[in-house]
Amino acid sequence: MKAAWFESFGPARAVLVTGEQDKPEPGPGEVLVHLAASGVNPSDVKKRMGSAPRLLDEGLVIPHSDGAGIIVAVGEGISGDRAGERVWVYQAQHGRRFGTAAQYIVVQGRRAVELPDNTSLEAGACIGIPVMTAHRCVYADGPVEGQALVVTGGAGRVGNYAIQWAAQAGARVIATASNDIDAAACREAGADAVVNHRDENWAAEVVEANSGALVDRVIDVEFGVNLPAVLDMIRTSGTIVTYSSTVVTEPKLPFYRMMFMNLLIRLVIVYEMPEPAKEQAIADTTRYLKGGRLQHRLAHVVPLDDIARAHELIEQGGFRGCVVVNIE
Ligand SMILES: NC(=O)c1ccc[n+]([C@@H]2O[C@H](COP(=O)([O-])OP(=O)(O)OC[C@H]3O[C@@H](n4cnc5c(N)ncnc54)[C@H](OP(=O)(O)O)[C@@H]3O)[C@@H](O)[C@H]2O)c1
Repeated sequence: MKAAWFESFGPARAVLVTGEQDKPEPGPGEVLVHLAASGVNPSDVKKRMGSAPRLLDEGLVIPHSDGAGIIVAVGEGISGDRAGERVWVYQAQHGRRFGTAAQYIVVQGRRAVELPDNTSLEAGACIGIPVMTAHRCVYADGPVEGQALVVTGGAGRVGNYAIQWAAQAGARVIATASNDIDAAACREAGADAVVNHRDENWAAEVVEANSGALVDRVIDVEFGVNLPAVLDMIRTSGTIVTYSSTVVTEPKLPFYRMMFMNLLIRLVIVYEMPEPAKEQAIADTTRYLKGGRLQHRLAHVVPLDDIARAHELIEQGGFRGCVVVNIE
């Protein structure tokens, strides 16, 4: 089968190669998926650069956790009815070497989820990490209905889905965006108000947008940078949910201020979501997809032979939406 892989860590163009690899066979409990699209996420790029130093210990790695395609064979214990099913695949390259940047992949049956006909395979490849992370951020700490909830970076891949989950669950969503186009994308996803996280006084703007009241929850994309502002906008006994802190990787916490506010700090890593939370995210995603209730933003579709460009796009940023590698 055609595939892309790397055998050493380093810059995309230096280490990513394409060529032929053996087509896998499904074992018990597994399905063989003929992939049409492979989603690229920041964690794929970070892994290629060596963020998981032991990743290459057993040999080459076919990157990417997310993808979409059609089940073409099933292993023992999986109903033959699943052959021909359109699916989205998640966590395909978590804790294992062979991800979705290939014509075929074998995954456990539960990691290949029905993709309704109303959703393209390219969009299906954007679901795994962004949609599930956003779901966890919104739902990990009880109902959000009626709450005032801030989503920072609401035009981002994760942030935009977080707005959609929270707004449709009945939260009043205040999103942040750094420009008018992103602000419009936040509103389209369901945000009631948008403030600019580059404004010096954005915490005050959030409170103003919440009719002068402190907010109940914040879902944050840059924890270390934003913490001082977040502490000025969140109420006592509020919840800060964060899934990233790339600029300040070892944030300094004003412990006693936070303790006396009785805050809950929730750190989310999608790969380690408890299994029931994954199952709930999948069930909700299926329901929302079938109902046409999730918007997907596809920014770039790149052929497999040009996979290095797909990684560079994620590294450079400056656009909004998912990057998908198209597999012939
Ligand atoms: N923990 C997990 O499970 C998990 C899962 C998925 C992703 N992640 C991580 O989350 C991060 C974002 O991923 P993504 O795919 O959503 O990226 P993305 O699509 O590039 O979105 C990032 C967003 O954050 C905004 N932003 C940057 N600095 C900000 C700040 N100080 N305050 C508010 N917003 C800010 C950006 O807007 P401007 O550039 O306009 O400011 C952009 O809208 C990455 O580090 C990724 O590795 C973690």
